Amino acid sequence: MSAVLNLPRWYDLHTHFRQGANVGAYIADHLGMGCAGALAMPNTKPPVALIHGPDTDKAWSIESYRNILLQAGADAFDQLIIPLYLTADTTPEMIDKGAESGLLRACKYYPPHGTTNSEHGVPMENWIGGDVFRALEANQITLCIHGEQHGLAGSEYFDENQTAESVFYSEKLPAILDAHPELRIVCEHITTQDAAEFVSTAPARVGATITPQHLLYTVGHLIQGLRYHLYCLPVVKFEKDLAALRKAVTTPGQSKFFAGTDSAPHTTKATECGCAAGCYTGGCAPQLYAMAFEEAGVDLGNEAGEDLFTRFLSTNGPEFYGFPPSPENFQMKREPSTVETRETGEGPIVPLPVGMERELTWTIVKESV
Ligand code: DOR
Ligand code: ZN
Repeated sequence: MSAVLNLPRWYDLHTHFRQGANVGAYIADHLGMGCAGALAMPNTKPPVALIHGPDTDKAWSIESYRNILLQAGADAFDQLIIPLYLTADTTPEMIDKGAESGLLRACKYYPPHGTTNSEHGVPMENWIGGDVFRALEANQITLCIHGEQHGLAGSEYFDENQTAESVFYSEKLPAILDAHPELRIVCEHITTQDAAEFVSTAPARVGATITPQHLLYTVGHLIQGLRYHLYCLPVVKFEKDLAALRKAVTTPGQSKFFAGTDSAPHTTKATECGCAAGCYTGGCAPQLYAMAFEEAGVDLGNEAGEDLFTRFLSTNGPEFYGFPPSPENFQMKREPSTVETRETGEGPIVPLPVGMERELTWTIVKESV
């Protein structure tokens, strides 16, 4: 097989750059892996829940967070989308004005208390059929959904036959699509067969991001040795789910599934009474995605295999969000590489696949050619 891939620079359409001293380092890691642009999630503290400044104690604005990221190196990206965090204070007027100004391109639904910094989320049932979602439809602003049913516990939350995600996709997604026939939706970081099949058969206005970890690992990998750097939400699932996700991304001609790493740096991963959710894949995401495609049986050395990978990594996402794919390329080659733990002033960031008994089999040769 050809050992070198020349691919259009790619877009990470779901990532976390956070705030504070390390933002520049996280952005640099993304640039170093051939990333041409990003959708940077708004679950900062306080959340990005306003569109224009000034910031308040309760909320930052897209405008000011954007400036923080641009000054930290994101000006090298050709796309920077910051979704508005949907909170109890979000109004249809904000959506109209934000869309008109061009600053608002997406909104993010967080299930209340369902994941890192999601305590400002409002339950999905409160949004469906309401004026905010109608404003999103009218302005063709994308709704990014963290698709897990909030408030479940024990076996309702996670069991072999049911998870918070499968409940959400069987109960909530159909209701959203019915009530909002023009709404554009990205099902973020899907992890289950239920979600993959839902998105595959949904109308073209529904797409999905998939992370590297959900294409490579199952819950067994997490539990054996309690490898908590693999702990993210939604949590990695079962073999049948992994197979369905791999099938979704490797179906010839597919246009709905695209890269969104959910790379989520945590300087304190193990806490006093639990574990922060989030895997860091800054610096190694395209390599991990390539490994997953190969494990799914794709030959990246032939044209058909390269086309599948390019769709997922570099072209489907821009097409869904309505911007052109990058005119520049980056280069990867099939040669082992390593990633190191990143020491920050606040604590170590351990990227996947450190400690996962799996080496990277690909190397980024050039971030831009
Ligand atoms: O694992 C996750 N980490 N899932 C999320 O939904 C949020 C993210 C984070 O911000 O750390
Ligand atoms: Zn995320």
